[in-house]
Amino acid sequence: GLMDQLHDTSALRKQLVAVLGIAQVIIVPGNSERHQGVLSLMGQQLDELLQLLLPGGRSIIAVMGGTTMAAVSKSLSPSLANERNLLFVPARGGLGETMAIQANTICAEMAEHSGGLYRNLYVPEDISAKSVAPLLQEPVVKSVLDLINHADVVIHSIGRARTMANRRNMTSSEIDLLTRKKAVAEAFGDFLDAQGHVVYKVPKIGLQISDLHDISHVIAIAGGPSKAAAIAAYMKVAPHQTTLITDEAASEMILRGK
Ligand code: F6P
Repeated sequence: GLMDQLHDTSALRKQLVAVLGIAQVIIVPGNSERHQGVLSLMGQQLDELLQLLLPGGRSIIAVMGGTTMAAVSKSLSPSLANERNLLFVPARGGLGETMAIQANTICAEMAEHSGGLYRNLYVPEDISAKSVAPLLQEPVVKSVLDLINHADVVIHSIGRARTMANRRNMTSSEIDLLTRKKAVAEAFGDFLDAQGHVVYKVPKIGLQISDLHDISHVIAIAGGPSKAAAIAAYMKVAPHQTTLITDEAASEMILRGK
């Protein structure tokens, strides 16, 4: 029954907090890989969490891209920006991925659903270091980077290394390196092995995992049993103030040590 389910989830939650070593875990029932509705539940949890965390007045919210972020952005409620001045900015990267899942697009979506404002970052992801340097001095880029560096909240997902390498069209020699170094997870452009060591870094601008320690609230959203190993690996380097929003299927798999 429902009471058993609630009970189960709260027991799971306590075990996960202990195993992952982060401040808070929120688990929604079900498997987001099987039912799209589970992602909406994760989105509703995000909305409630932001209602709790954000004081009145101005907050800067930095967001990453991906399909999880795109799905949960639809659950932000229009009342979120009541009495609040919310500004969404992309946490990192630029114009590399498919339009619908770029951080820039997620910013706009989240702003639209919550009644907030957004700014975009106009820097291609696969630009050379030589070309990016002068771009960083452009006022339209520099002002957004300043906002990112003052973010009050960061919201991001976690991907599987292999999936992300394919999605980013990495070369076969890069993929070989990831395999050799046993990369299992990707977050913020960093590929991590199961111990949380960075084994490969995609050069990008914006926030890095090491910058997260200075940010008041960090919210990681990732679910589905196939992401269990990736979630567990990333949590080895996640800042302590991280809240993980996940599903029951991923939680059980993490606890089984998968
Ligand atoms: O590319 C942006 C990104 O946030 C990655 O850092 C992360 O690994 C991935 O998207 C998650 O994507 P998805 O939600 O589609 O699994």
